[in-house]
Amino acid sequence: MRLVRLIANLGYGSRKEVARMFREGRITDAEGDVLYADDKREHGEIRIDDEVLDPPSGLCLMLNKPRGVTCSTRDAGRIVYDLLPDRFRARNPALSTVGRLDRETSGLLLLTDDGPLLHRIISPKSRIAKVYEATLAQDLRGDEVALFASGNLMLESEKTPLLPAELDVLDARRARLTLHEGRYHQVRRMFAASGNHVDSLQRLTVGGLGLDDLAEGDWRILDHNDIQTLFSSGARA
Ligand code: URA
Repeated sequence: MRLVRLIANLGYGSRKEVARMFREGRITDAEGDVLYADDKREHGEIRIDDEVLDPPSGLCLMLNKPRGVTCSTRDAGRIVYDLLPDRFRARNPALSTVGRLDRETSGLLLLTDDGPLLHRIISPKSRIAKVYEATLAQDLRGDEVALFASGNLMLESEKTPLLPAELDVLDARRARLTLHEGRYHQVRRMFAASGNHVDSLQRLTVGGLGLDDLAEGDWRILDHNDIQTLFSSGARA
């Protein structure tokens, strides 16, 4: 791939802008020798203003999404892309969220520009477990563990019942719910079906990946081992 296209695809600017960066001598190799648009170099050998390039496509990252931030590329309010470097929004292939979290749900959100990986993560076949912690408006009734585990719970306007889900009760109004699928507003709708209301919701894990010490609003790039961890186990409640 021509260097202009490679660098433009990473979001550093339009091809015209990147061509100008070449003319200005801002793009060099690791030794500081100026590169030209027609040169051939490996990604890792290229520097812009002496900085290494952002990761190539195949990027996957995790973000600790705060409440009040939308999983969308455009919204009147704050969006997840506001928490990432500006360039990431202009990458080609595009960096997309792996599924969504509601605006008022916080916690672990994955983003990737790797289409096959995204589909593998969200595919029902992968059955990747996701653990949510919910704080409820009312005390639990006592039958929720059995109801959610039954495999018979039918949510309004759905055609098939939910897969069995595990509920761990932490106290009267707090519980962890492990899901093996991802339907629209699923956790909120499950508790609504049991006559309750979710006051606050956080996603703690996706597969084997947890938030660990990632602060709210922070993100980190996942490496090969992280991706293996993601697929390695179900829930890590
Ligand atoms: N279930 C919900 O209700 N909301 C989310 O954001 C994720 C799962």
